[in-house]
Amino acid sequence: MIIYFSATGNCKYVAKRLSEAMGQETVFIPDCMNRDGWAFEDEAIGIISPTYFWGLPSMVKEFLSRASFHTDYLFFVSTYGTTTGASGKMADRAIRGKKIDAYYSVRMADTWTPIFDLSTPEKVAKFTEKTEEEIGDLIEKVRNRYHNDRMSPGVPAAVVDLIAQPMYNAFVRKTSNLHVDDSCIGCGLCERKCPVKAIEMRNKKPVWVREKCVMCLGCLHRCPKFAIQYGNGMTKAHGQFTNPNVKV
Ligand SMILES: Cc1cc2nc3c(=O)[nH]c(=O)nc-3n(C[C@H](O)[C@H](O)[C@H](O)COP(=O)(O)O)c2cc1C
Ligand code: SF4
Ligand code: SF4
Repeated sequence: MIIYFSATGNCKYVAKRLSEAMGQETVFIPDCMNRDGWAFEDEAIGIISPTYFWGLPSMVKEFLSRASFHTDYLFFVSTYGTTTGASGKMADRAIRGKKIDAYYSVRMADTWTPIFDLSTPEKVAKFTEKTEEEIGDLIEKVRNRYHNDRMSPGVPAAVVDLIAQPMYNAFVRKTSNLHVDDSCIGCGLCERKCPVKAIEMRNKKPVWVREKCVMCLGCLHRCPKFAIQYGNGMTKAHGQFTNPNVKV
């Protein structure tokens, strides 16, 4: 069983590749959040998450801390653009009663476009040079039930606990950072796809109705008119990105 979170398709693509190679079903974490049963059982279970602020998206952290996994082989995959930080350590801390048997990472386009520039295929390619090789290696190692005890590349968890995750939770996740411009055509896609239902359409324009969201930037990257931007003024120049191999 492959369990994943994905906003812009990178993790969805890794989940797809693994599920095709292993003949395993995929489970999308946002689809689980409102269901009663949080127990997952299979011979092998893989959890795939993007790295957010050197840690985990808030929804993934919540899911891992509430779910239980019954399996002979539990593996955790972080996709990332610059470093996985302490995402593996955070997954290990969040999961109760079961040790992670192997940690994997796959470098993909960095969708944190308030900083990173994905405005041309050449700029995207700088992140994705080794993506296919790393996915192939991941599949091979999972098939062979490879074991290790930490995620690479990484930074000390203390740095993440002290700086990166408090910043993500206190400032970055605030929906007041997101705004819509006049090019919006009122299609409602952003409202339909938001994994935490943080957007409502009012007078044919998106309005953020929750103070905090996951800040997955899915609404920004998926908008057909690129009408949604993040507050620091850089996202328009840095372009939109969704993984070309899957539908998001
Ligand atoms: C809010 C946010 C924070 C991020 N923080 C990091 C980070 O700390 N390190 C990193 O390497 N990539 C970071 N990224 C990039 C994503 O982890 C990466 O692009 C991932 O593959 C996206 O997965 P998805 O397309 O399945 O949503 C961040 C992206 C977002 C939206
Ligand atoms: S997806 Fe874009 S164009 Fe469609 S309603 Fe949302 S902001 Fe407007
Ligand atoms: S409002 Fe946008 S950034 Fe926030 S969770 Fe929803 S889709 Fe993601």
